[in-house]
Amino acid sequence: MNIEKINTTPPPLTEKPETGLENVEKLSEIEAIEALEVLRNKKENEFLDIEQHNKVMDDTAKTAVEALTYAKDQIHSRREGSLKIETFSEAEGFKRLNPETESIAKHIESIKENAFEVGKGENASVVGYGEELEACYKFAKPLKEGKWRNLLREEARLHNKFFEKSQSLSEHNIGVPEPHYFLSYGNDEVLAMELLNAKSIEDILGGDGFVPEWLDIDQFFEDVENFLDLMHSSGLYHRDMHGGNILISQEDVLNDKKKSGYIIDFGSSKENIIGEDPYVTVWRGETFTTSKDHGKLFDLKNRLANLAKR
Ligand SMILES: Nc1ncnc2c1ncn2[C@@H]1O[C@H](COP(=O)(O)OP(=O)(O)O)[C@@H](O)[C@H]1O
Ligand SMILES: [Mg+2]
Repeated sequence: MNIEKINTTPPPLTEKPETGLENVEKLSEIEAIEALEVLRNKKENEFLDIEQHNKVMDDTAKTAVEALTYAKDQIHSRREGSLKIETFSEAEGFKRLNPETESIAKHIESIKENAFEVGKGENASVVGYGEELEACYKFAKPLKEGKWRNLLREEARLHNKFFEKSQSLSEHNIGVPEPHYFLSYGNDEVLAMELLNAKSIEDILGGDGFVPEWLDIDQFFEDVENFLDLMHSSGLYHRDMHGGNILISQEDVLNDKKKSGYIIDFGSSKENIIGEDPYVTVWRGETFTTSKDHGKLFDLKNRLANLAKR
């Protein structure tokens, strides 16, 4: 895994993203008034207290350009305050990205602009980016009303726990994509991880991807069960083990460094405390019960075996 590449290569900036915050001093008064209106009308800038803002404008700001500069500073300091980074794979060079909010803002914008879709789930979109062939980025979508799932930051923490535990499994067994970092900035939450050459069982059953010749289906599902048992022995419960979250390697030849498959998506996972029911979560007074980890494996195995026979 080439981590350095991910973290040290500056994003190929096509154009500087328009934030509406640049070159304020060059604006005319009318342009500044308009720009101020645009900023205030943006949902993410609701925090700009209009009343207080007007007061500052009347008391101190002599021009709309000054008022805009003040608004701009407020937006900047709020974004700085919202920055959170958690690194999982220590890599030289990563710290360079760390303290500079401006470069992180550009990095996120650049990923969005140059993204290609890797996969879609219910809760997130997973994208690859530009020339980076070894990394992908999971962007959280807003939480659905009445549904529970881990916030991406908690998902990333659990993902890393599953990854570390999976390291003790030997070659060809089931793996977890290596997590690199979690980053939240403004309204964006991103989990950067290893991009796998693998397809979900659901995709393969739907005709996108193939059952590799080397795959021993019985062995594969036995490995998945052993993976889950190992996690459970550490209190780690996946709790969303459907065909979209079990990936099969799409390598033509399975060499000794490769895994036959992977478990992904720790958005429903839990680190269980002894004595609690691992499949129950109480959230905002509501109780959510998830499916059992081994529950769907038998059915998936039969469907995959049927597909492979054809
Ligand atoms: N590391 C990865 N490498 C390759 N494909 C991935 C990776 N992570 C996710 N995907 C693809 O993206 C899809 C959605 O990812 P997932 O984490 O399950 O999102 P959600 O939480 O929305 O279900 C997966 O079903 C898979 O096809
Ligand atoms: Mg999923």
